[in-house]
Amino acid sequence: MTTEDKTKAQLDLSQLGQIPADFFWGASTSAYQIEGATREDGRGLSIWDDFAATPGMTYNGETGEIAIDHYHRMEEDVALMKRLGLNAYCFSVAWPRVFPTGRGALNGAGLDFYERLVDTLLAQGITPLLKLYHWDLPSTLQQAGGWLNRDTAYAFADYAECVAKRLGDRVSNWVTHNEPWCTSYLGHVLGIHAPGLKDAQLGVYAAHHVLLSHGLAVPRIRANTPAGTKVGVALDYYPVHAYDESAETQIAVERADAFRNRWFFDPIFKKQYPEGLFTDLGVSPPMAQEGDFEHIGVPVDFLALNYYTRMVVRAPQGQSSQRYEQVQPIPGSAYTAMEWEIYPDGLLETLERIKRDYAPPAILVTESGAAFADTWDGKANVSDLERTHYLNLHIQRIGQAVARGIPMRGYFVWSLLDNYEWAWGYSQRFGIVYVDFPSQTRVIKESGYWYASLIAALQDKQKK
Ligand code: FCB
Repeated sequence: MTTEDKTKAQLDLSQLGQIPADFFWGASTSAYQIEGATREDGRGLSIWDDFAATPGMTYNGETGEIAIDHYHRMEEDVALMKRLGLNAYCFSVAWPRVFPTGRGALNGAGLDFYERLVDTLLAQGITPLLKLYHWDLPSTLQQAGGWLNRDTAYAFADYAECVAKRLGDRVSNWVTHNEPWCTSYLGHVLGIHAPGLKDAQLGVYAAHHVLLSHGLAVPRIRANTPAGTKVGVALDYYPVHAYDESAETQIAVERADAFRNRWFFDPIFKKQYPEGLFTDLGVSPPMAQEGDFEHIGVPVDFLALNYYTRMVVRAPQGQSSQRYEQVQPIPGSAYTAMEWEIYPDGLLETLERIKRDYAPPAILVTESGAAFADTWDGKANVSDLERTHYLNLHIQRIGQAVARGIPMRGYFVWSLLDNYEWAWGYSQRFGIVYVDFPSQTRVIKESGYWYASLIAALQDKQKK
């Protein structure tokens, strides 16, 4: 039995029957995590280059300087997508490749790279989904305050327009930001992501400008692309569950949900921040100007949802000044190498809630996946049954969501390839393709073969 046969044997299509034929089956990556070549062809530095170069910030001091060398291996990587049968690919453009200092002089060579990528994808029949921001702000903009400076929102809209002008004739699906919660909170409050600031107030200011930049960019993309171009934003979402039945815990659940989910969903879909959020965070509200919420709440064509796990919380214990206490591990639950609980039901719950509370016209799951400690046998085999199970369980939920009338349009595995997992360096492998980092060898994992068989089987079935 070949690897392909083995994985085929485990396919369960029974719940996937209503998934539309034009559904996107893809994988996602982001620029800093895969490209490397950080100083080539005129690329400027980003806050992630600076952060990773700061001692103590990342695992073993690892950086994305080489990453998985995708900048030089782009054709090979697109060929892998083709082998897997993906019909879509979600990637991000590195802002500092296009505008090395964030604004002003355009670096043509930087934009050329993405044009080649898009053309290579299209030649293979793979639909590009282009994200404009996956955390790599040009360093020069950071020196002027970064997301704390309202001007950065206008610079982002200019950058979006420029990329739209060049690639809008070939790219029909655009994502403004990836996970603005992470940009704001991990980068400005916890300081575990670039730019590494640690101040609760700053997180709230940064968040408002990130949201504003999204709102300003959407019409600029639409104005510079053909009619029918779709624009969305990628938000991460964590269903929050109560650990116990107490009334205090119920309050903790609501606080955690407002902070972790509604902080970004509410302004984008309801033009307001959750009531009480800033008091709860112990900070002043952001300095919003008149009209900001009209920009931020501009209707999107789709929501790009990133789903990994849930949160289980209870009321703070003892004298703690925390708003809630996250309980982990949950007895009986399985965990990934990131110590994220495997909780596929949460995906369906999330999709149902988003449909009910926010009703986006379409939903694409743009990140779903898991890190495990994969090993390569040095030849052709990487056995990662746990990841196959993980993907299978989550994809079943997509089938159920479609059957329940949720407007699902795509599913993208995080990630296509093992890559640079931010502060975790190269210690976490999320790919359906293994990368041997020293030699940059790519080896399709068993989960990759499984995913390929699933896509092929669904397409076969739909043809009949
Ligand atoms: C998401 C990020 C992505 C990757 C995965 C594991 O939050 O968007 O870049 O780090 O988590």
